[in-house]
Amino acid sequence: MYSEKVMDHFKNPRNVGEIENASGVGTVGNAKCGDIMRIFLDIDGDGVIQDVKFKTFGCGAAVATSSMATELVKGKTVEEALQVTNKAVMEALDGLPPVKVHCSLLAEEAIHAALWDYAEKNGIKIEGLEQPKNDISEEDEEEDY
Ligand code: FES
Repeated sequence: MYSEKVMDHFKNPRNVGEIENASGVGTVGNAKCGDIMRIFLDIDGDGVIQDVKFKTFGCGAAVATSSMATELVKGKTVEEALQVTNKAVMEALDGLPPVKVHCSLLAEEAIHAALWDYAEKNGIKIEGLEQPKNDISEEDEEEDY
């Protein structure tokens, strides 16, 4: 049911962890299943993503898509990272079963939320970026997921 690439990224997820003092942090929840994804971005002065890490309380497809999404945005500018849609991530993984497509949205939304956080902290506007709808604010998230 899953492609080899999905299984690979699920079993050996890339870029799992946290970044201390990250340039931007985004946490989003999936309304359908309640799963949560957090992405940390380290962005340099030129707006290039030097490092990216993720933590999730989510299903296998969410792990695989986040792993692939972090690989795709690493080394890109914030504008280029915006082009990494869930569709692009799914294509890079050779597809996902239809019932799991919503899981791939978590990664995209978490990256957008982290970029939003970065833009707000630096008082800049990133062309084409909107505040993610499923953004979970610091106040109502649980401490220890
Ligand atoms: Fe929740 Fe996949 S079932 S993210």
